[in-house]
Amino acid sequence: MYFKFPKDFLWGAACSAYQIEGAWNEGGKGENCSDHYARLPETAKFFERGRPDVCSDFYHHYREDIAIMKENNLKSFRFSISWPRLFPNGPDELNQAGADYYNDLFNTLVENGIQPFVDLFHWDLPQWVYDRGGPVVYEFVDWFEKYARTAFSLFGDRVKMWSTMNEPNFSFGGYTPSAVEIHEGSGNEPPYENSIHKAFMTCHILNLAHLRAVKVYHEMNLGGKIGMVIDGFPFYPFSLAEEKDSIAAERAFDLYAGKWLGPMMLGRYPEVVEDSYAEYLPENFQQEIADAYEEMDFIGENYYAAGYAYGIDEKPYFALCGDYETIEGEDRNEGYHIRRNPTGFYDILMILKNKYHAKEIIVTENGICFERDKKNLSKPTTIHDEERIRYLSDHIPMIARAIASGANVTGYYIWAIEDTFEAGSGFDLDFGLIAIDYDTMERTARDSFKWYGRFIKANT
Ligand code: NOJ
Repeated sequence: MYFKFPKDFLWGAACSAYQIEGAWNEGGKGENCSDHYARLPETAKFFERGRPDVCSDFYHHYREDIAIMKENNLKSFRFSISWPRLFPNGPDELNQAGADYYNDLFNTLVENGIQPFVDLFHWDLPQWVYDRGGPVVYEFVDWFEKYARTAFSLFGDRVKMWSTMNEPNFSFGGYTPSAVEIHEGSGNEPPYENSIHKAFMTCHILNLAHLRAVKVYHEMNLGGKIGMVIDGFPFYPFSLAEEKDSIAAERAFDLYAGKWLGPMMLGRYPEVVEDSYAEYLPENFQQEIADAYEEMDFIGENYYAAGYAYGIDEKPYFALCGDYETIEGEDRNEGYHIRRNPTGFYDILMILKNKYHAKEIIVTENGICFERDKKNLSKPTTIHDEERIRYLSDHIPMIARAIASGANVTGYYIWAIEDTFEAGSGFDLDFGLIAIDYDTMERTARDSFKWYGRFIKANT
């Protein structure tokens, strides 16, 4: 076989609590930030394409969905716990109904031979966190520790793969419009404020919270692994002939992904943060990270696109642009934020190996979406999704190449297990291996899931 994968490779699919669970005010769950801001008149416009109140109602349909996963040979399911379902009102009071629900979910997965991979935080911070200052205050680190410790003790006997957080640039984006071309302006995510200072404090506090949770997990000795999930997309120099474009590309990467991966993997912020944004961070920010540092066990990588940068003379000494092909009109854009670039997939895996010395890498997301018919949004796009199969067939071999080049990639999760709520576009886009009819809640495995099931069988 040209493309060989280890027999115990984890072939999975992923999703997050607030994107499919629904039941937003059932089972004792508290408000998450989306529930809250979707209902405020000033911010409701961000949810005009739908609110995540019901979604695919996974909360009530998970047994059915797990049966479809099993039928299609899925080895692992990556999902997140909703923090406000466990702690609805504050850091201290556990909601037993929430714990019971997740216990049953994880039991059902394990009984069906599907390994759970769990994110503690995937974009749905409890609203009480924002009411008490947001992820910018140091107390957040203690709240997160308490939550993490509880989740590890409740579920750690069955859940052996944990991630502290998913794409924390989302929370950074609550205070400024971009996580890489940083400028004044309201964030596009909760709490929709304008403060570069708070954006960088969010970065610092989330880094500290991550390091604390990793330390706690290691101390608890539960026999599993813990990491974090980043949307690390590689940046390329606009012109390879310009040294300053090459430097710019690396600085863009360091600012976008490295402000997380630096502290988490190397125990320090990258130079671009130090030389261009230190004024927004506490005086001893490097030392605080060094003191808290605890190495995580793997890096989770969400791959959808690559970017391009060129050098400029002012701080931060880079600017972003499209690549030659885009500029000349031949666009590889798949719509939304997805740009088909399988080589970039291989490159990012190698960057994680070489630059961050990742002992283990898990591809926690990769996938493609299609637009629903605007006039009939409750009905899914086609079940016969050959284009998705093509996309997967272009990307999966890159993992085999990275493994052959020495990267220890141990798992791959397609985004998404089923059609979801998207923060930026509501229910317009279908990412699912399982199609959802939102009128009837009928679920149907798409052709791509059947293809993936056969692929998994052939590769285990
Ligand atoms: C990454 C995020 O983790 C996920 O929540 C989102 O739905 C996908 N990208 C697709 O946009």
